[in-house]
Amino acid sequence: MSQNILSLCYLIASVCFIMALKGLSSPKSARAGNFYGMAGMTLAIVATAVSSGVVNYPLIILGIAIGGTIGAITAKRIQMTALPQLVAAFHSLVGLAAVFVAVAAFSHPEAFGIGRAHHIHTGSLIEMYLGVVIGAITFTGSVVAFTKLQGLVSGKPLVFPMQHLLNAFLGIVLVLLGVLFVTTESAFLFFLIVLLSLVLGLLLILPIGGADMPVVVSMLNSYSGWAAAGIGFTLNNNLLIITGALVGSSGAILSYIMCKGMNRSIINVILGGFGTDPAVSAGPASSEQRPVKSGSAEDAAFIMSNAKSVIIVPGYGMAVAQAQHALREMADILKHKNIQVRYAIHPVAGRMPGHMNVLLAEANVSYDDVLELEDINRDFSNTDVAFVIGANDVTNPLAKTDPTSPIYGMPILDVERAKTVLFVKRSMAAGYSGVDNALFYRDNTMMLFGDAKKVCEEIVKAMD
Ligand code: TAP
Repeated sequence: MSQNILSLCYLIASVCFIMALKGLSSPKSARAGNFYGMAGMTLAIVATAVSSGVVNYPLIILGIAIGGTIGAITAKRIQMTALPQLVAAFHSLVGLAAVFVAVAAFSHPEAFGIGRAHHIHTGSLIEMYLGVVIGAITFTGSVVAFTKLQGLVSGKPLVFPMQHLLNAFLGIVLVLLGVLFVTTESAFLFFLIVLLSLVLGLLLILPIGGADMPVVVSMLNSYSGWAAAGIGFTLNNNLLIITGALVGSSGAILSYIMCKGMNRSIINVILGGFGTDPAVSAGPASSEQRPVKSGSAEDAAFIMSNAKSVIIVPGYGMAVAQAQHALREMADILKHKNIQVRYAIHPVAGRMPGHMNVLLAEANVSYDDVLELEDINRDFSNTDVAFVIGANDVTNPLAKTDPTSPIYGMPILDVERAKTVLFVKRSMAAGYSGVDNALFYRDNTMMLFGDAKKVCEEIVKAMD
């Protein structure tokens, strides 16, 4: 394939990726966005595979077969609630790939057209250095994020004295080593940089607590994009540079939006929890024996049937129970009774960005009924019933009042302002952040204990 045709294919693929990102910005166009992404990626792979630089087809086919099989089986088996850790695991592979490409380029510069051993072009050495640092940090950082999200290690921030000083010291040493490496092209320095970057990746993510993990995953997504762009420079591949930059910048924008959603400082997250107060605790556990009001599905059916407006607040528990279909059935019956029904979505409800939107779309809930926090929060005060299904942290008023709480500062859905709050969950257990929810004990709250799907089905039966 001629260079011109290859460049044209890469240009078309890049446009497809940009259209994919645009499509993914709204649930209505997300399906089309995914289609553009897949089309662009297919074109990119085919065009690269038939380009003149490829020398070993059997190895490439073997790699695609092994990677493709593992990817397909994993995607088929994975529970939607475990997607964040899967994404973290995939990011780690992008980081590792960047490190491997840099090692290969450093060992065989002639094969990459970047000079010869001990005479590698200065520009290429700088690209290699950046690729290897970002890639190694992404690799170990993502592995830590995976183990925390999977529950293999504690989600609590792991802090020790002088941690940030050590991180800053390592950062400065890495910059100095980079300058030395570019001027001397020393193999020892190259591998020392790899080692220290791997350590820095660990140190940056270990102090970040579970509550900030969503932002960390999105930040690592961004790092993996920049690592891919680094590989693109080393391989002299424009498409990889463009794709890496798109992933890097969209991941950074998403992290910023999520930080805003949780009222966290993005600088704090990038610098590995800098400013994290070790005194911040998970607050009182839910073992407290305070009286709560609990009701049955029949009670809930009665209360909602007599309401004028209901706002449904879905959370992680709805995803676990896969209650979205039963929930929509319940909402349809309420609508038939001329009751206004809307859904309030918190930016970090569930376990990944857009988690609730995806589930509600799967159950064919109209997009017009689904509103974001800032568009609906004021309406709770003139709403009869807030129906909180499997959500907890995103409604917890401690986020507004308790500076020692790990969720302090996160904007919450003001469900307590509704006349009646119905909480569907299985027990008095705390949510993701481990903080007890004061709303359970309020006079206008009624707990509906049970699996979210079962409770919805029982309410539907009672209303029928
Ligand atoms: P959570 O605060 O985690 O609360 C979910 C509640 O669902 C739990 O209290 C649990 O109580 C209940 N539950 C679990 N299984 C259930 C079932 N089968 N039926 C009924 N209820 C069930 O969820 P949330 O309010 O959606 O908040 C999300 C939290 O996750 C935030 O802290 C956020 O920072 C964090 N996070 C978010 C993301 C993103 S990007 N969305 C990623 C990672 C972490 P029981 O055990 O008593 O049933």
